Amino acid sequence: MEQDSNRMTKDEGQLQQLKMSAGRAVVDDMVKCGMKLGLGTGSTAIHAVRRTGELLAQGQLCDISVFATSFQTEIECEKLDIPFYTLNSRELSSGLDLTIDGADEVDPQSRLIKGGGGAMLIEKLAAYASVLYAIIVDESKIVENLGTGFPVPVEVVPEARVQAAKALDKMGAVVYLREALRKAGPVITEHGNVILDARFGSPVDPAFMETELNRIPGVVENGFFTRNPPVVYIACSKGTVEIRKKP
Ligand code: 5RP
Repeated sequence: MEQDSNRMTKDEGQLQQLKMSAGRAVVDDMVKCGMKLGLGTGSTAIHAVRRTGELLAQGQLCDISVFATSFQTEIECEKLDIPFYTLNSRELSSGLDLTIDGADEVDPQSRLIKGGGGAMLIEKLAAYASVLYAIIVDESKIVENLGTGFPVPVEVVPEARVQAAKALDKMGAVVYLREALRKAGPVITEHGNVILDARFGSPVDPAFMETELNRIPGVVENGFFTRNPPVVYIACSKGTVEIRKKP
């Protein structure tokens, strides 16, 4: 089954090219034979999935066991013949050696906002089950403070939609129920929940908020990622890929 392909503008084409360079670079640098590998979700992480598939097909990588963080990633792995397993499987239950993913924002301490693609629940499982963590972004995602620009996604069980939105409002956020495209009503996540996108009026402490948001009844997970600082591969508009070391 093929997905719709939208016509890209020149700028979008250039951005895709940059993301692809960074996605390929991180796989070439960090993925080794025998690894248990988490693969992330989104238009940037997919380039790392494709590069992994390419190297496996060429025989330059071997014995890789993958954990795919979403249906999007599973489907891409299926297309590329990349073997993937659940995190509960015998192959992966001892944890992951490396996870490669995208992000929506990265602050100076390499703390992240993720979940623009709605997959942060499983992406966080992968991130925190991994020894090494690598993030690929373009330079537009590097910010001074998290939470005031890109809204932090908060996944809540449908029954908690209104109460959780009120709690977020009390914490100083403007809250939007994420609406689906090409389906009427809200986005329903791969785990049957809805997403509240919360934008704060002033900078917040991401580590504190990561814990605090999950204390709201009905919240399943939120998009602050602060506990496994990643290596960050930054695709720059001048055409280079900069690597920011793990802090
Ligand atoms: C999905 C994510 C994505 O990694 C994040 O939204 C970045 O996506 P893209 O690379 O398409 O901009 O967290 O839940």
